[in-house]
Parts: sequence; C-alpha cells; structure tokens
Amino acid sequence: MKIIIDSAGKIAALAAQQYVDLLKRKPNAILGGATGSTPLGLYAELVRLNKAGEISFKDASSFNLDEYVGLDGTHDQSYRYFMDHNLFDHIDIDKSRTRVPSGIDVSDPSAYDKEIAAAGGVDLQLLGIGNNGHIGFNEPGTPFGSLTHVVELTESTRDANKRFFKSIDEVPTHAVTMGVKTVMQARSIILMAIGPAKAPIMKEMLQGPVTEKVPASVLQLHPDVTVYMDFEAAKLL
Ligand code: GLP
Repeated sequence: MKIIIDSAGKIAALAAQQYVDLLKRKPNAILGGATGSTPLGLYAELVRLNKAGEISFKDASSFNLDEYVGLDGTHDQSYRYFMDHNLFDHIDIDKSRTRVPSGIDVSDPSAYDKEIAAAGGVDLQLLGIGNNGHIGFNEPGTPFGSLTHVVELTESTRDANKRFFKSIDEVPTHAVTMGVKTVMQARSIILMAIGPAKAPIMKEMLQGPVTEKVPASVLQLHPDVTVYMDFEAAKLL
C-alpha cells in the first residue's frame, strides 16, 4: 500500500495524474467512480485536464460504487445526478458507457457484478471513506465476500449525509452498493480522505487489524492501493 500525505489540493493533483497515466496506457480503461465531498477536488482537476487536452475519456467507461434506493437519476441527491453534474457532463466520456447502479430496480443487484466482469473488470476504483470505515455503502459488519447488494444504512451514515437533504426523514434508509469483494476485484484502488473528521478512522483502517468491523481495513490485503490523505486526515498516524 502506498500512502501519500499532502495538502488537499496537492493530493487531488497527484491522484488525477494516476488517471492521466492510466488512460495514456489504456485509453479504454474502466474507471470505478465514487461520490461524496472528498472526490470533488479530484473531479475538478480531471475536468481541467480534459479541457486542457491532457487527458481523454472518450474510450473509457465507468461503474459507480453505489446509489440510494428510491432515488432516480433526476433526484438532485441521487449519485447519478452527482456524477453527471460534477464530472460526466464536463468531460468527453460517452455517457452511455457510464453506469451507476439503479436505485429504482433493485430486484437483482448482483447483475451489476456480471456487467462489470463482462466489461473486463474495473482498472482503477476510487473510494472515499465513511466516518465508520464504510467503503461505498458497505457498513461495518459487511462480509468481505459480498457482491453488489442492498444495504440498510446505519443511523450514523444517514446522519452524516443528512446535510444534503431537507431533513433526516428524507435521507433514504437503504442503498445499493458494490460489495467488498466487488471493490477488491479492481486492479488498482485509490482511497482518498480529507479533513480532521476522518483522522480516527484512517488510523484504524491503516494501523488497526483487518476486520469486517472496519470495512476499509480490507484494503490492507489488496496488492495495488494508493491512499491519499490531507494533513488533517493523517494527523493521528
Ligand atoms: C457516502 C458514500 C461513500 C463516501 C462517504 C464519505 O456515504 N456512499 O462512498 O465515501 O459518503 O463521504 P464524504 O466524502 O462526503 O466524506
């Protein structure tokens, strides 16, 4: 595992460089997308590099990690909406090759894994981390062998995400997420963490035991992970 600690601006630029290198080497790479406030700096940097002609997504595809159950892509808190507005609408990717799990039809979530496998597997999966160690929406206790599935969100996750909704009652109670195994199958993984609220969980994830109680700790077992942290998220290491 590679660990890079720098300012939020610098880690966004360094992570973006990983995308530049990958897409130069493999223009039709499959990218694993993430939502949340953490990747916003990286996405802004990718948009800038794309407009400057330094990176092209025209042959790339993407699979996002997760989606709220019950929200369709027109809902401004859906993750489809987030991806379109913060990245896809501003770069030269073919939108028909960008996938976000459906929050409406959740009858066969693991079909998403089959789609990913049929496309050739994710080359570079981006992750944020929840305050409780979740990756995607894999909450503490999720089996490491899990594939894409529907989860009931913990109160702490609903509480952390309520800032985006009018009230806690509007925060969905369930989500569909790639499983821990789905994430671990990516050839390379980037995990980003920004801000002091993430400091305790970054210590647990990196220096604690590998345990299903801290889903992100599983990344200690992956052969190609780069963790980018700002100084505040790294302050307890
Ligand atoms: C959500 C997402 C995660 C994300 C996490 C942290 O719950 N499902 O993928 O990593 O929030 O969000 P933030 O980056 O805003 O701290």
